[in-house]
Amino acid sequence: TALPDVLSCIQPTADLHIGNYFGAVANWVQLQETHDCVYGVVDMHAITMPYDPDELRVNTRNMVIDLLACGIDPEKSTLFIQSLVPEHCELCWILSSQCSYGELSRMTQFKDKSAKLERESADEFISAGLFIYPVLQAADILAYRAASVPVGKDQEQHLELSRSIGRRFNQRFDTDFFPEPKALYTQTPRIMSLAQPDSKMSKSAGVKHYIGLFEEEASIRKKVKTAVTDTGELAEGQYMSAGVGNLFTILRACEADAVADQLETDYKADQLKYSELKGAVADSLVELTGRFRARRDELLADADGVDAQVREMSAKAREIAAETLRGVRKFAGF
Ligand code: ADP
Ligand code: NA
Repeated sequence: TALPDVLSCIQPTADLHIGNYFGAVANWVQLQETHDCVYGVVDMHAITMPYDPDELRVNTRNMVIDLLACGIDPEKSTLFIQSLVPEHCELCWILSSQCSYGELSRMTQFKDKSAKLERESADEFISAGLFIYPVLQAADILAYRAASVPVGKDQEQHLELSRSIGRRFNQRFDTDFFPEPKALYTQTPRIMSLAQPDSKMSKSAGVKHYIGLFEEEASIRKKVKTAVTDTGELAEGQYMSAGVGNLFTILRACEADAVADQLETDYKADQLKYSELKGAVADSLVELTGRFRARRDELLADADGVDAQVREMSAKAREIAAETLRGVRKFAGF
């Protein structure tokens, strides 16, 4: 089995928003044109925080359908569900002994999430799974011995840890078995909240802050219409307010560059009407999401077919991971 060029994973949260799409999924769709890609829906990561099993099952299946609706193409890429590839866990356990307690303690995501649990949950239960999560992430990557991993700024620390775990394994067992996964830096836009454009668009802030990728037209238009534009005087040297800049970012992410150029000329001439900018943004988003909604409806109508297809793709992914594990087990002394 050939090793893939690119490996990337996403957690099964409920409903993607346009930030996830422009910041991650659109890039996945692009990469399949030029690279041999393996993509994963990592449901086993989702159990490290408090969760509901039925909800997880539903979210995992929906995430698969959403990714297919966005254009992940089974003819070009392999899309697997992590829990259908048990090699991830076996590799995680073996690699956990090639990673130090200190390294894991320094991971900022663990610090943030455990602090949040301490603050917000009644019993302050912080699972060991949450602590060891970066090792499972390293296993996700190393199981496929993929050449590169697309990364955004927030994931650099985790990729660096995956690299050093692979390196340590190689040194410990005197091998070059694990290639060093390279960071594939891609220019993906960061989409800001519509209601509070100085913070990143995310689901956790509440429904008025994000636009769902499969949201209804009327709701999209309403959110864009009420998006915050001016937040007072521009700081010295600042070209646009965060809100206006964000609307332009979204417009260009929708590939409406001609319209964006025209509106930017208006902006420079001090003649931009925000209602026009918002109209253009809403139109572009409605068109894009309309396409996704239509494809998702087709997929939902054949949900059993989709399940069978993802099982098949997961089995294909498993062949690669199983081959890796055969090597790993030998080195490790099993
Ligand atoms: P998080 O929001 O904690 O970064 P998610 O699971 O919501 O993580 O995000 C999945 C992917 O979408 C990640 O690659 C993340 O970088 C990207 N993403 C999330 N929010 C945005 C945003 N507002 N703009 C651009 N990309 C985003
Ligand atoms: Na993230």
